[in-house]
Amino acid sequence: MNPIALITGSNSGIGLETALYLARRGFTVWATMRNLQKADELRKIVESERLPIEIAQLDVDDDTSVKHAVAQILQKSGRIDVLINNAGYGLRGAAEEVSLDEWRRQFETNFFGVIRVTQAVLPQMRAQRSGAIVNISSVLGRMAIPFSGPYTSSKFALEGLSETLRYELAPFNIKVILIEPGFIATKFQENAQLAQAAQREDSPYAIFKQASGRRVQRNIYRAAPAETVAATIYRAITHPSPKLRYPVGREARLVLPLRRFLPAGLFERLLMKQLGL
Ligand SMILES: NC(=O)c1ccc[n+]([C@@H]2O[C@H](COP(=O)([O-])OP(=O)(O)OC[C@H]3O[C@@H](n4cnc5c(N)ncnc54)[C@H](OP(=O)(O)O)[C@@H]3O)[C@@H](O)[C@H]2O)c1
Repeated sequence: MNPIALITGSNSGIGLETALYLARRGFTVWATMRNLQKADELRKIVESERLPIEIAQLDVDDDTSVKHAVAQILQKSGRIDVLINNAGYGLRGAAEEVSLDEWRRQFETNFFGVIRVTQAVLPQMRAQRSGAIVNISSVLGRMAIPFSGPYTSSKFALEGLSETLRYELAPFNIKVILIEPGFIATKFQENAQLAQAAQREDSPYAIFKQASGRRVQRNIYRAAPAETVAATIYRAITHPSPKLRYPVGREARLVLPLRRFLPAGLFERLLMKQLGL
C-alpha cells in the first residue's frame, strides 16, 4: 500500500511541487489548501498524469477546518505516514511598526497553524507507532535579517518547536524534520504582506528598508526551483534515520555555515554591509 502524505498549502509553490514529486514516486498525497478555488493548476496535472492525489480543504488557522480535513483523510485512507507543514506567508516591516494584530496573524499561520495540524495528526501517528513530520522553516529560522521580524520570529519559534517534538516523538518512532530553504522561486515574495504602518512614506525606517530591499531583490533572481525543496523532502522522508535539519539552496549552503563559524561581530558587520545598512 502507498504511504499517505498530508501537505498544507498545496495550491502553490513548494506545497504544489512536493505534492507532485511525492505522488510521482509512489505516495498517495492529500494535497490540502484553504481555498479550493485555487486547485485548478494541480487538478489539471493530476488528471493528465493520473496521479494518486486527493484534494481537500484545510485552513491551518481554523480548528474546525483542520479537524474536518484530518477526519476525512483518516476515514478514506486509514492512516497518515507523513505530515508536511508547509503553509505560510511573509510579513515585512520594522518590528516597531508592525501592529500586534499583524504579529499575531503571522504567528497564527506560520507557528500556531503548525501546532494545530500536528496535534490533529499525532494521535493517529502514535497509534501507528510510525510517521514523519516535516516542518518547512527557512534560512530565516536560523538567522535574522532586518524588516522581516514577524516572519523570522515565527520560523525561529518553529525551529524550537521542531527540536522539542523531535525528542518527544522519538519514543513513538515518529521522525521530525526541518527543511530550511533559502530563496526559492515561488509566489512567496508576491504573496508577502507589508505591515500597514510600513507603507507610510514618512516611516522612519523607509530609507533603510529601501536599501536592504534592493539588495534582497538582487538575490531573488538567483532563487532555486521549488522542485529542489521537494526533492530534499523526499530524500529526508525516505531515509531510515533522517537528520533534524536540511538546508536547501544557495543561501542556506553559504550563509548558514558562515553564521556558524565566523565570530558573531564579524558576521553581523558583513551582513549589514551586504544589506546596505
Ligand atoms: N519561497 C521562498 O523563498 C521560501 C524560503 C524559505 C521558506 N519558505 C517557506 O515555504 C513555505 C511555502 O511557501 P512558498 O514559497 O511555496 O510560497 P507560496 O507559493 O506563497 O505558497 C504558500 C502557500 O501557503 C498557503 N497558506 C497561507 N496561509 C494559509 C492558511 N492559513 N492555511 C492554509 N494554507 C495557507 C498559501 O495559500 P493561498 O494561496 O491561499 O494564500 C499557499 O498555498 C512557507 O512556509 C514559506 O515560509 C519559502
